[in-house]
Amino acid sequence: MTIKWTSALEIGIPVIDAQHHRIVEYINQVEHVQKTHSREELLDVLDELVDYTISHFAFEESLMEEAGYPFANAHSKVHRLFAKRVEAFQKRARAGEDITEELLHVLKAWLVNHIQRDDQDYSADVKANMAQATKRAKARKGSWFGRLFG
Ligand SMILES: [Fe+2]
Ligand SMILES: [Fe+2]
Repeated sequence: MTIKWTSALEIGIPVIDAQHHRIVEYINQVEHVQKTHSREELLDVLDELVDYTISHFAFEESLMEEAGYPFANAHSKVHRLFAKRVEAFQKRARAGEDITEELLHVLKAWLVNHIQRDDQDYSADVKANMAQATKRAKARKGSWFGRLFG
């Protein structure tokens, strides 16, 4: 069964929600490939999923660091462990093993749990930091406008 994107998967930071939505779409694509049984296609989707997820992790890590989120290191470690797990699946798939069923199970369980627990946990700190950064930018713009047109 494919994953349905619902508000229960949102953490309230639009740029992150959009990335999570995209990851869910990749996972659903893996499910589709499982039905069509095209090995080439599976390897392609896996590559895309891994690349996209790793850049999502890096993006999240920079947001957490910028916000001074106290569990940023632990969160990054969870990302690294998961990336290793998926890479191991990739290797097995490249070696010709049919890992789709097992991989789908791991992806769905891990992602939903990680978003709702770990990602949700940093959202308040990151949101507060983003709001402050916007305020600072507006203040700078205000003074620039002030000097120029005041
Ligand atoms: Fe995430
Ligand atoms: Fe995360």
